[in-house]
Amino acid sequence: NQPEVLLAIESSCDETAAAVIDCDLNVLSSVIATQDELHQRFGGVVPEIASRAHLSNILPVIDEALRKSERKLEDLSAIAVMTQPGLVGSLLVGLTAAKTLALVLNKPLVAVNHIHAHLYACQMIAEEEIFPAVGLVVSGGHTNLYDCRSTTEYELVGSTIDDAAGEAFDKAAAMLGLPYPGGPHIARVAQQGNPKAFRFPRTFIKDERLAFSFSGIKTSMRYTALGQPGAREEPLPLTEQRIADLSASYQEAIVDVLIAKCHQAAKKFGRKSLCVGGGVAANQRFRERLDELQEREGIQVTIAPMSLCTDNAAMGAIAWELLKQGDIADLDVDVTPGLVR
Ligand code: KG4
Ligand code: ZN
Repeated sequence: NQPEVLLAIESSCDETAAAVIDCDLNVLSSVIATQDELHQRFGGVVPEIASRAHLSNILPVIDEALRKSERKLEDLSAIAVMTQPGLVGSLLVGLTAAKTLALVLNKPLVAVNHIHAHLYACQMIAEEEIFPAVGLVVSGGHTNLYDCRSTTEYELVGSTIDDAAGEAFDKAAAMLGLPYPGGPHIARVAQQGNPKAFRFPRTFIKDERLAFSFSGIKTSMRYTALGQPGAREEPLPLTEQRIADLSASYQEAIVDVLIAKCHQAAKKFGRKSLCVGGGVAANQRFRERLDELQEREGIQVTIAPMSLCTDNAAMGAIAWELLKQGDIADLDVDVTPGLVR
């Protein structure tokens, strides 16, 4: 008499992922096929390449998730799939696979919001209920603040007006000649750098709006590292120490803004709990500063574990909550590429 299990599928961006999760939120298997290598030489995700890679990866990934979980297709109680937001072609691959399985197995289909799932990942490791809370999802594609009233009611209360924080990390890394995706590399070389060596802009930090903007800091990095267009002087050579100092200062500026906005949102909505997810939440300096925020302001901070920070299907466990509420999708449900909630 084993607990019920569901299969969750994720293909919103450049990771093809599948996971089997039981109704007690135990992750029996979580398989992720990354496409980093395919996109590396373009310095960013190429949508057409991403959808083609999903197409060849999706069935092997689902197969492997089932095999590792030691459950069979017939054991599944439901099929969950991330339907928004993301790249339209990428999302469609996961959704089509999920619909097919739901139809053939005659099991409920659950449509999951990828960003909500990033926040729910925090609940998966928490010992107590973390909601109500404010939530920050900070990744290569998103920098979004939420007021989370309950486990499944998330209201988008702020986001970036241009680039996502992760994208700002990735673009800066490219300028410094570091590999893609650049966030972890900036973080690594920053350990040897001085965070006060350069003064990068902290856009909107004093602004009352819960909004982010990272295009200014990116431009600032370009001018400082590679020189101003039309400038008479050549930029200083990018020595190892200069790269480290630039990285540390850049990282500090982004982290300053993220921390300030989390604090501001918590105050605005009167929340004493903060949950943080998405790829950038893997950043060590950001984690240290979140610890400080928790100490200083008495806000309970829950950060998604590393394995659930970057894109994965295990966070699709939120589907169990949706199922409990009878939130089952029709088989004609479509993908929603843009972020609406
Ligand atoms: O959530 P995720 O895997 O994919 C998206 O949905 O975007 O996030 C990937 C992003 C990339 O921009 C990557 O550079 C960034 O997260 N990232 C980091 C770190 N690890 C990953 N940024 C800063 N520091 C890190 N340690
Ligand atoms: Zn994501």
